[in-house]
Amino acid sequence: MTDTMTNIQIAPSVLSADFSKLGDELASIAHADYVHYDVMDGHFVPNISFGPALMAQAQKATDLPFDVHLMVTNPEDIVPLFLDLGAKIVTFHIEAATHAHRLVDLIHAHRAQAGISLNPATPVCLLENIIEDLDLALVMSVDPGFGGQKFISGSLAKIRQLKRLCEAHKVHPQIEVDGGVSAANAAELTAAGATMLVAGSAIFKAEDRAAAIDELRLAAEKDLTTQA
Ligand code: DX5
Ligand code: ZN
Repeated sequence: MTDTMTNIQIAPSVLSADFSKLGDELASIAHADYVHYDVMDGHFVPNISFGPALMAQAQKATDLPFDVHLMVTNPEDIVPLFLDLGAKIVTFHIEAATHAHRLVDLIHAHRAQAGISLNPATPVCLLENIIEDLDLALVMSVDPGFGGQKFISGSLAKIRQLKRLCEAHKVHPQIEVDGGVSAANAAELTAAGATMLVAGSAIFKAEDRAAAIDELRLAAEKDLTTQA
């Protein structure tokens, strides 16, 4: 196994940060790979988080690229707002998209990376006809809407299915996992095929965020490196 295959991406979710000191919170995760930015509209999920205005402010406080996770109905209406801000990755939910290829094309036209997310009960086969166009596929391992929920164990099998789908199509999008991720389950997630881990509470509830990121990265890459 090569080094590139062990290069797991870590994306702390700022949903679990203390918004009253967002600049400090972002500084505390400086050696992660992305800021995972959860946008919730109160319709697709039973919660409301934050939008483009806060992201514009947050971008001033970090050099990290933004991994925008849109948990919204009608994602086509707001995707442009995040593309204009220079989001590196924009992910929308397949359950909310009527014209997924059109939206992926729009994201690519702005030189951003396009991701599609699946809720826990949504089958991997829904990506069959679009997987070759994606830069990222996101397996939700909790029903989206809140941080701090329990990992749904069936997500492991879904990650494996998604990896098999990618192999069948000879494509290598990032396989991102979001919800209940921690150093305790990171190794089995990456062994199943995950290449990018989102963690909210596992990082922001820790006293020492740098240590929490290191611990997650080490756990995520441990078994992969021992196979080298
Ligand atoms: C849930 C969000 C997640 C959430 C993860 O709907 O998409 O990104 O912040 O939080 P934890 O890691 O605490 O499950
Ligand atoms: Zn998320």
